[in-house]
Amino acid sequence: MRRTYWALPVLLLAGCGLAQTNTVGEVEFAHRLRVPPLAGSHLDDQGRRVFDLRAQAGSTDFGTGGKTSTWGFNGSYLGPTLRAKRGERVMVNVVNGLAETTSVHWHGMHLPARMDGGPHQPIRPNATWSPTWTVDQPAATLWYHPHPHGETEKHVSRGLAGMFIVDDDTRVNLPREYGVDDVPMIVQDRDDTVLVNGTAGPYLDVRTERVRLRLLNASSARVYNFGLADDRPFALVGTDGGLLPTAHGTSRIRLSPGERAEIVVEVQPGERVTLRSYPVELDNFLSDLFNGGNDTLDVLELRAAADLAPSPAVPARLAPIARLDPASAATTREFTLAGRKINGRGMDMGRIDAVVTRDTTEIWEITKRGDGTAHSFHVHDVQFQVLSVDGERPPAELGGWKDTILLEPDRTVRIVARFADYADPDVPYMFHCHLNKHEDQGMMGQFVVVEPGQEPGRPDTHSHRNGHG
Ligand code: C2O
Ligand code: CU
Ligand code: CU
Repeated sequence: MRRTYWALPVLLLAGCGLAQTNTVGEVEFAHRLRVPPLAGSHLDDQGRRVFDLRAQAGSTDFGTGGKTSTWGFNGSYLGPTLRAKRGERVMVNVVNGLAETTSVHWHGMHLPARMDGGPHQPIRPNATWSPTWTVDQPAATLWYHPHPHGETEKHVSRGLAGMFIVDDDTRVNLPREYGVDDVPMIVQDRDDTVLVNGTAGPYLDVRTERVRLRLLNASSARVYNFGLADDRPFALVGTDGGLLPTAHGTSRIRLSPGERAEIVVEVQPGERVTLRSYPVELDNFLSDLFNGGNDTLDVLELRAAADLAPSPAVPARLAPIARLDPASAATTREFTLAGRKINGRGMDMGRIDAVVTRDTTEIWEITKRGDGTAHSFHVHDVQFQVLSVDGERPPAELGGWKDTILLEPDRTVRIVARFADYADPDVPYMFHCHLNKHEDQGMMGQFVVVEPGQEPGRPDTHSHRNGHG
């Protein structure tokens, strides 16, 4: 039905290069998927696991002809995978080797606001910032990326991004050998090329019956709808903040910018199967166009070996999730996203938009209105649970821990979160649209967590304190 409306927008938008793209069968899978190395670390005299990251400029050959100027951590593009276990105290020494101010945010991590790496923790050129915190959340696929005020899109799209895998003690029998049957996949688009871990036209050699893919949408604006070329079902086992309570069999998983999904795919000996992004089913045709949502893109080829090592069957039960009780919520807040504003206001580093009391549960009701562009909504500090989408029970893929959610036009999403720790009246956390350009254009707000009865402070708008050079 939507198709009837095609002609007009296509004509209007053809000149802007926004028409539908289809790369099915056109991508030559000629490059072995690069797997980000695991970051080395050492234990310091206080027992902290210490990592070193250096943001630096370089150049990268994506195999599409010539070298491109790029940025990366400890290399020319993207960064190593940090990995730590629940209960560990970590510290990351982040050196800014760029000629401009950046920051490093730990997306999905529950940690004190001053360690969060948002716009209030800038790292100036040649400075080092060393946040430290105790990892205290379930096993999950998190990531890190810059969050400098108004410049996030530029820094992330130049290549500053990496994964942060959290492990815990729960013994769930899933593929777990990093880079072998448990593979990080940082998916981005550059012009019309889809890159996975910075590899254009990637293939992955699979040597086991099942492979776990940790998918991260690290694109600036594109929404993906991943599936396999033959529509075979796969098991969705995890979302942003950890494993689902039960594995969910599906043939599609939709990811807006910032979201993650862990899937387990079964392969047959000797076969080749393509991971593809299918058109996103959104209600509004304009949003399809503006977010690349109508595109069909070949992403990566899985190449199964003739002899496959056995893999465990995907367990039906994964990680139990205690449901937060909406009746226990201290407050319900409403957030309306329209234009490039949230509740009619653009981002102001000096303004606190919400004051949350520590150790309380809150319901947030998020609605997207107006223009045809889809948005996503990301909250720092916490992992939330989805209560409803337009009054309906959320689908299985929204049944686990989330920190980012796709907002479809004119729908209301109700989420619930517990703000258990880390009061700091002066240093805010962010909530924002994770389409990086929208964030840069001001589609972001700030909240502080305070002790009961405590007044919010004044956020530092110059932030010259962090990162001494
Ligand atoms: Cu992925 Cu506020 O960021
Ligand atoms: Cu974040
Ligand atoms: Cu947006």
